[in-house]
Amino acid sequence: MSNYEIKITRTDSPKEKPQDQSKLGFGKIFTDHMFEMDYTKGIGWHDPRVVPFHEISLSPAAMVFHYGQEMFEGMKAYKAADGRTLLFRPDKNIERANNSNRRLMIPEIPEDLFLEGLKAVVKADEDWIPTAEGTSLYIRPFVIATDPFLGVRPSDTYKFMIILSPSGAYYPEGLNPVKIWIEDTYVRAVRGGIGEAKTGGNYVASLAAQIKAHDEGYSQVLWLDGVERKYIEEVGAMNIFFKINGKVVTPMLNGSILPGVTRRTCIELCKSWGYEVEERKVSVQELEEAARTGTLEEVWGTGTAAVISPVGHLRYEDDVFQIKDGSIGQLSQKLYDTVTGIQLGKLSDTFNWTVEVK
Ligand code: COI
Repeated sequence: MSNYEIKITRTDSPKEKPQDQSKLGFGKIFTDHMFEMDYTKGIGWHDPRVVPFHEISLSPAAMVFHYGQEMFEGMKAYKAADGRTLLFRPDKNIERANNSNRRLMIPEIPEDLFLEGLKAVVKADEDWIPTAEGTSLYIRPFVIATDPFLGVRPSDTYKFMIILSPSGAYYPEGLNPVKIWIEDTYVRAVRGGIGEAKTGGNYVASLAAQIKAHDEGYSQVLWLDGVERKYIEEVGAMNIFFKINGKVVTPMLNGSILPGVTRRTCIELCKSWGYEVEERKVSVQELEEAARTGTLEEVWGTGTAAVISPVGHLRYEDDVFQIKDGSIGQLSQKLYDTVTGIQLGKLSDTFNWTVEVK
């Protein structure tokens, strides 16, 4: 039973669904519907609605185009073998969305309204959820500032939208280990900045280094802290974990790192399996040393889009650290199997992480 009046307008010209789910790629195809809601100062969030997927019209002066006031999230919906449509820990993404909103001076979205809008649009397009191995319906909620005004201040009007994209693996490598470039010149974020908010500015800051890394044959950039350029922070589209001498180690959340939902999930799972998990500063020198002495046992990234992505090879300046034999590690594989097993309803959800869309 909904607490909100979410108006549903179904498309009268449904698109053709992708035939070959092995060729979906990531974030390229969009479904028939989207969720939309507006904010006006003095009124609040209003007119929640599911409508046919459509282009939007904004003033060229809309503040989002000039000062980047926007927040986004990334989530996924899955089709379980028994036909249920499942979301994974949506409460954590909604909580993080409002943490980002507060930092970006965007009005918070009532959590229950966010969840109901999300469920309504996923329900409208549940036939679009792909079922092939490694696929899901990627969900992109986002807010943009819409005041037509060129002064620098928070906008008085916003648009919140949720769009859906049937997707496969984020990296073309799939579960094969990726090669990561440790960046020593550019930085992504600094403490006190917007690094822990999920907003476009952090991703545009990453592009120059990403292109540099791609040109050298690397998939992603691993960022060092913006002050000393010594401590590991995160990868372009994921958080990072190391297994060093039997212990699971990940950079602690310090204000400039994105607090990933899959990061948190991995920490909770590893602890439940009896691993010692350390959230602390990790220097690049420590990694170099661990790689040299053979105690760097596994490296993997975590993210909604990337899920668990094994790293086989790290490069820092002129040094290359090969992680074991370059194949996926046992713990990374167990994490991947467990996280996706719970997400797809194949494993019992003892943590109560999945939410059914009815
Ligand atoms: C996600 O993992 O959902 C993200 O938002 C990362 C994005 C850059 C693909």
